[in-house]
Amino acid sequence: MSGGAAPRRARARAALLAQLPAGSVGAEIGVWQGDFSAQILERVRPALLFLVDPWRFRPDRWMPTFGTGMLVNSRAEVLAAGGPQRHLDRLHDQVVGRFAARSDVVIVRAPGAAFFARCRAQSLSLDWVYVDGDHSYEGALADIAGAWETVRPGGLITGDDLGFSDLAEGGRKTVKAAVGDFLAIRPKARSAFFREGGQWGFVRTDEP
Ligand SMILES: C[S@@+](CC[C@H](N)C(=O)[O-])C[C@H]1O[C@@H](n2cnc3c(N)ncnc32)[C@H](O)[C@@H]1O
Repeated sequence: MSGGAAPRRARARAALLAQLPAGSVGAEIGVWQGDFSAQILERVRPALLFLVDPWRFRPDRWMPTFGTGMLVNSRAEVLAAGGPQRHLDRLHDQVVGRFAARSDVVIVRAPGAAFFARCRAQSLSLDWVYVDGDHSYEGALADIAGAWETVRPGGLITGDDLGFSDLAEGGRKTVKAAVGDFLAIRPKARSAFFREGGQWGFVRTDEP
């Protein structure tokens, strides 16, 4: 991330969190080591926060060295842990420990799609979702679609990394294309779309 990008992203994230109501029920899809989760808890004060991440090595995904489709840990760190899956197991255990004392946190070790299916099976609707998990086009699109079916009308579907450059993507389609394609056939939601510093979001409208 270049010089001005990190503070801009931090500001955009703070602005985004300011839109999420206290006492709401929400989910962060893609938790990694829980740093943004901690910010959500502090700034939003949700009634319930689902932290959803499979912490599973996916060598078929983009940037597979890091096991998650994301360039989030240094190679040395991964190797020191004994390999990508052990590293992810360790991250999971650390997140469990970090939030163990909180009754307002539910950790779900599963992909976003499985979490959304469980919510629907239990007729649980969410006030908002933050999508920051599988950054492949297909993965992001699946998470956005799952969020759409799980967030209540009037709730927010938001996420990170709209601004990845083509260079970082290796020319692949990623979050930006997934958001754009999802909204292309939902004009009401598209009109509510906002973006800033890589953060994005739109309201879950009553469109199918
Ligand atoms: C960019 S990191 C998340 C960073 C975190 N939101 C933060 O801001 O601190 C991406 C995470 O997504 C997780 N992930 C990958 N595929 C996923 C999926 N299908 N559903 C949920 N999480 C996924 C990875 O294990 C990784 O921890």
